[in-house]
Amino acid sequence: MITIALPKGRIAEETLDKFEKAFGEKFVFEDRKLILVQAGFTFLNVRNQDVPTYVMHGAADLGVVGLDVLEEKEYDLIKLLDLKLGKCKVAIGLRAGEKLDWSKSEIKVATKHEKIAKKYFEEKAMAVEIIKLYGSIELAPLVGLADCIVDIVETGLTMKQNGLEVGPTIMETSAHLIVNKNSFYAKKDRIFEIKEKIEAVL
Ligand code: PRP
Repeated sequence: MITIALPKGRIAEETLDKFEKAFGEKFVFEDRKLILVQAGFTFLNVRNQDVPTYVMHGAADLGVVGLDVLEEKEYDLIKLLDLKLGKCKVAIGLRAGEKLDWSKSEIKVATKHEKIAKKYFEEKAMAVEIIKLYGSIELAPLVGLADCIVDIVETGLTMKQNGLEVGPTIMETSAHLIVNKNSFYAKKDRIFEIKEKIEAVL
């Protein structure tokens, strides 16, 4: 049995689609069920940010998660395969027409990507105050909560429709299949078989 933590929503559905193509079985979570046991797999339906936690603690062997979420967690997990799903970037968002003011003594940044944002500004020797938010990040600069944001950009529409423009890119991200070290060594053959079968249908 291999247990796989999936991030609730579109990426989970698209991943199950790949498993269907790779293993010839239709995998669908029933109504509100958070667990799906079928054909030697146990799929878990969890919050995006919780995927690395399930995998790190060994409650799941594998997980599907964006590189940005993985980077935020700083866990020692193995990246097995880029599923090339949910491609987007983590970028700075600024009020339209503004540039980052590097002459300020400190810059206020609203984000849910605390570590990525902190690292970016610290590497540029800029003092930063991180304001942690859980969503609707684009609102923060508009109401004076922050000077800028660090957030996920896919089409750029959310920023645009909220009077922001996309600034410098910090990192590119996409959903990756990850595995914890214990499972990787204990179930190596099965895990490589899964990796190869999924890779073949990408
Ligand atoms: C992300 C992100 C932006 C939006 C960007 O939010 O935080 O708000 O998508 O997409 P766009 O560039 O195509 O407009 P998401 O939908 O993941 O919801 P969340 O804020 O609840 O995580």
